[in-house]
Amino acid sequence: MRAVISIANQKGGVGKTTTAVNLSGCLAGRGERVLLIDLDGQGNATSHLGVEIPESEDSTSYALLATAEPDVEKLAVPVASNLLLIPGHIALAEVDIKLFSQINRDTRLARAIQPFADDVDFVIIDCPPSLGMATVNALSASTDVVICVQTNVFAYEAVRRLLAIIKVVKKELAPDLAIHALATLHRSTVNLNKSVLEKIMQNFPNQTLQTTICQTAALTEAAAAGQTIIDYANGSRGHQDYEKLTDELLRIIGDRQKKADEVTLRREVDELETTSSAVN
Ligand SMILES: Nc1ncnc2c1ncn2[C@@H]1O[C@H](COP(=O)(O)OP(=O)(O)OP(=O)(O)O)[C@@H](O)[C@H]1O
Ligand SMILES: [Mg+2]
Repeated sequence: MRAVISIANQKGGVGKTTTAVNLSGCLAGRGERVLLIDLDGQGNATSHLGVEIPESEDSTSYALLATAEPDVEKLAVPVASNLLLIPGHIALAEVDIKLFSQINRDTRLARAIQPFADDVDFVIIDCPPSLGMATVNALSASTDVVICVQTNVFAYEAVRRLLAIIKVVKKELAPDLAIHALATLHRSTVNLNKSVLEKIMQNFPNQTLQTTICQTAALTEAAAAGQTIIDYANGSRGHQDYEKLTDELLRIIGDRQKKADEVTLRREVDELETTSSAVN
């Protein structure tokens, strides 16, 4: 597994599901093996991919949080070449109550996907618009979180609140979690959208992604048609934006891996030198 990426924001309707589905589609299109987990009770990512929501919650992502030893392989439905989906279910809306008295309730998802680590390159998690146990589990299982920010007046406050939660999760559960802010539903010709984006870039210069996702009807139409934007409108502006996002995230994750490999290599060389000087 190269990365586990949560797509989050407790604010509703900011493009999380659209991003989770189309990023997954673009990664799969590049030959990466992708598992998309729909962790939202609304099941929008499931519908977006034209998959019917299973009747029993035991066949959905609910099982990843609520059962002791879920079988990820059995839950994952193949939807396209290189793309697997674990569907969502309305029962997820009550998962906070279910997990209330359970031990290790923050890290259940992380443990559930661990045995599947060698079978996929990327896990993408579509989070619900809340900061409950599903989102906390997603963050604690992740290497990266992409915060979708709709560039309007209320967005900034929502991002500040989410970052406060992420800070706690980082400290307690996922110290290496990398944070990325992604402007979605962006209209570069609208002054308000432009100034909100500038404010976000000023305040979070190291976290804001260069890619922005434009507002375009094709992305909504693709969701209604049960298709990714790649299949629905290949080469369209919406498709191009999600390919750019894929490029940028692959570059960030690749650079990070290279640095980690260099550190490991340096440590191994140091150890070898220490051993050989002890022998001599
Ligand atoms: N870039 C875009 N251009 C046009 N429409 C978009 C874009 N992104 C998302 N939408 C549309 O906006 C609506 C909300 O998007 P989406 O479902 O992705 O948001 P969400 O954050 O997942 O919502 P929720 O919080 O309810 O889960 C949908 O109808 C979707 O098709
Ligand atoms: Mg959604």
